[in-house]
Amino acid sequence: MKNTGSREWSACVLLFAAISALEASASELESVYTVQAPQGQWVVRALTHAAQCPSIAWDGHLPVAMQVRATQATLPVRSDAAQADSKPAVFDVTSCEATWPAQAQSARIEGQVVPAPPKQIQRILIVADTGCRMKASENSFQECNDADKWPFAQIAQSAAKLKPDLVVHIGDVHYRESPCPQGNIGCANASWGYGWDAWRDDFFQPAAPLLASAPWLFVRGNHESCFRAGQGWFRFLDASPYTAARNCNEPANDLQGDFSEPFTAAISEQAQFIVFDSAKSSGKAYNPADPAFTKYKSQLNIAAQLAKLKPESFFINHHPLLAAAPGKDPKKFKSGGSAGLQSVFETVVPDRLFPAGVTVAMHGHVHLFEAISFQSNHPVSLVMGNSGSLNEGHAPHAIAPTDRIYKTAVVDNYASRSEYGFATLDRTFLSGQESWQLTEYTPQGQAVIRCHIQNGKSRCQ
Ligand SMILES: [Fe+2]
Repeated sequence: MKNTGSREWSACVLLFAAISALEASASELESVYTVQAPQGQWVVRALTHAAQCPSIAWDGHLPVAMQVRATQATLPVRSDAAQADSKPAVFDVTSCEATWPAQAQSARIEGQVVPAPPKQIQRILIVADTGCRMKASENSFQECNDADKWPFAQIAQSAAKLKPDLVVHIGDVHYRESPCPQGNIGCANASWGYGWDAWRDDFFQPAAPLLASAPWLFVRGNHESCFRAGQGWFRFLDASPYTAARNCNEPANDLQGDFSEPFTAAISEQAQFIVFDSAKSSGKAYNPADPAFTKYKSQLNIAAQLAKLKPESFFINHHPLLAAAPGKDPKKFKSGGSAGLQSVFETVVPDRLFPAGVTVAMHGHVHLFEAISFQSNHPVSLVMGNSGSLNEGHAPHAIAPTDRIYKTAVVDNYASRSEYGFATLDRTFLSGQESWQLTEYTPQGQAVIRCHIQNGKSRCQ
């Protein structure tokens, strides 16, 4: 009798210890999400305050340990840091990862369901330029503490309700570069700098419902270039393996770290995304002797080869090449395409800029929504940088046939919106042919613009 009681007591202690360990471990887990990687692969990521990575259970089988992608570290300020008032970046989370096995249907990490790769994509959700701007060099401080003035959390909630199969972020995830000035209650006590706390508050916490709802495809913005938030980009979001040459820790490696090779991601039998890293691109035309010119030219040539893999390609990079610029007066038109990228792309594909097979170009960077269709042979150009970061002015209400977005580009359909929002692309069929419905929403999830996209042309209502 005494013996049995002792055994029961020991079992209870063991069970209690196991539950405590699980709870302690679970509380150290900050985020679990799935990322689209090159070659059609999907990678599960987990961020934890524990030094060891959690285990992942595929299809209810015994859990197996995830691999460490990046260990916890405090990284010194880079000599070329973008803001004068910088501080060491404290990454007190371990970045962990595991490649999704082709045959696996489901996965759990410490009981938490991991978003599974889509079997078929019907709805793609798009956000860009999501963070809360705190930038001393421009004396620009958004009201991060006001959900209406920085609506990304609201956008992520509304977007998750639409149950997308894939979420695409077209860059500029991290905006909290400088400390909130004393006395500014709009951003008082906001975390800042390039370490985990700023990444958590600017992205992982507000994005949580959307990170849990579907896998993500991340496209890099200028805010994630090496001398800004590049270290966090490689720890958390970049799709390729983490290496010393490509982690943004050493400025001497930036010619590798700032230029990622383009890759494709299939979105249907006949269409694919081509993901292009324009993070470090200049707004001014390049001198062909500039190493960046050579890099971008070579990568566009790779993209042109990739475009041959499917009948239709959607080219995604952060900086628009064919766009109208925001301004104070919505009656005035001004071209807003990146002169730097144009100067490279036009040497590979004169006039059209984008390789054959590219029917749609998708971008962020400019904080508004634009859908531009051309009478000329240019792809539909979509700008969707209005998902949270400080508004920068009005898009022009109209673009006249005489207004020149770029040399030979003649606009024949245009829709714009200057307020905050996000968008979806829904796969549809018209007369047996695949086409896409683009919908622009308010942060609350109300549809406000609808465009039909087919054969490289868009028509918006
Ligand atoms: Fe940007």
